[in-house]
Amino acid sequence: MNSLNIAVIGAGMAGISAGRALREAGHQITLFDKSRGSGGRMSSRRTDSGSFDMGAQYFTAREGAFRQHLHQWLEQGWVAEWAPRLYMFDERGLTESPDDQPRYVGLPRMTGLSRGLLGDLPLVSQTRITQLQHDEPGHWTLLDDTGGAHGPFDRVVVAAPAPQAAALLEVAPSLAQAAASASMEAGWTLALSFKDALLTPVEACFVRSGPIDWISRDSSKPGRSGDDNWVVQSTPEWAAQHLDATPEEVALELTGALGYVLGFDIPAAHYRHAHRWLYARPATINNWGALAAPAMGLYVCGDWCLGGRLENAWLSGMQVARTLT
Ligand code: FAD
Ligand code: NAI
Repeated sequence: MNSLNIAVIGAGMAGISAGRALREAGHQITLFDKSRGSGGRMSSRRTDSGSFDMGAQYFTAREGAFRQHLHQWLEQGWVAEWAPRLYMFDERGLTESPDDQPRYVGLPRMTGLSRGLLGDLPLVSQTRITQLQHDEPGHWTLLDDTGGAHGPFDRVVVAAPAPQAAALLEVAPSLAQAAASASMEAGWTLALSFKDALLTPVEACFVRSGPIDWISRDSSKPGRSGDDNWVVQSTPEWAAQHLDATPEEVALELTGALGYVLGFDIPAAHYRHAHRWLYARPATINNWGALAAPAMGLYVCGDWCLGGRLENAWLSGMQVARTLT
């Protein structure tokens, strides 16, 4: 196939994996993202107290091709295994819940992986694409929210969360309909930092009751430096009921719930920050892999095409690259 000029909208795991594979196949790639950098929901926050992984906490690797790439990423030093002292909290209380599931994290924070994968792929950041203009087959122009036009492109890959993808896919009604049917759930993430380490052996905890879904002692992950940093993530149900709460209200409630799980009052944190994810995870599992309108040169990927995990986002991007080449 001739070298094509391809636009990828969304520089999260799915868009980057599609972009990398398409460039390896000999195409010219331009990634667009509305954020300042890459990574999407694999996001980290850097502070004077060290970093916090605010989105994806770790990833597991189940599928063969993904595991092969994981070996390379381990060798390149982009990721490392994280084996936390793992707990579970339910109506019976807090119990240790060890398992032999390998879990991996980016180095020195989760965005270490997206940054490594992005490499020198061209990224047009802080650019929100609002419209795809299909001038003629294989001739696309992207319009952004400042009135700017980008293109022409031979092919377009949409790698945004389902509701944002649906808005862009109006030009292909069947794809727009599929994206609109894939609803996504919200979530709140709270970062807390303590100068004096909390006196608990817990490094990670799956929570099965109350407002919290997951607790992680971020500073127990490999390669981290800074204070005793914790990340608390809400359940989607609690987030839906607290969508319009202020970050202060969320911090107060989730800190109280953290104390309930750990079994002691949480001292004042010297840093805290609450972040709301409007589209944290797909509400249902679809087995689409990816979507496409090949006659138009339009392709769609993202975790919502397979299930809300980093591995699935990567696989979805790879499927687009396979379909397109
Ligand atoms: P995204 O990462 O959302 O990337 C989409 C990108 O598109 C974004 O960067 C966005 O800015 C951009 N974009 C959207 N619209 C536009 C537009 N119009 N113009 C330009 N750019 C646009 N997975 C795990 O495997 N393990 C975990 O522990 C885990 N924990 C999680 C915790 C939280 C709080 C969240 C939110 C997710 C978690 N996940 C976890 C899920 C994982 O983060 C996602 O599955 C994965 O990152 C999705 O990648 P993606 O590329 O499909 O989408
Ligand atoms: P995984 O295999 O570690 O966990 C999958 C699920 O299995 C966990 O959510 C948990 O309920 C259960 N589990 C696994 N090990 C356990 C143990 N030792 N004790 C008790 N329960 C255990 O990881 P996988 O499948 O790669 O999933 C990724 C993670 O990402 C999940 O935890 C998921 O909840 C989380 N996620 C969070 C989102 C959010 O918005 N907070 C969005 C998308 C994913």
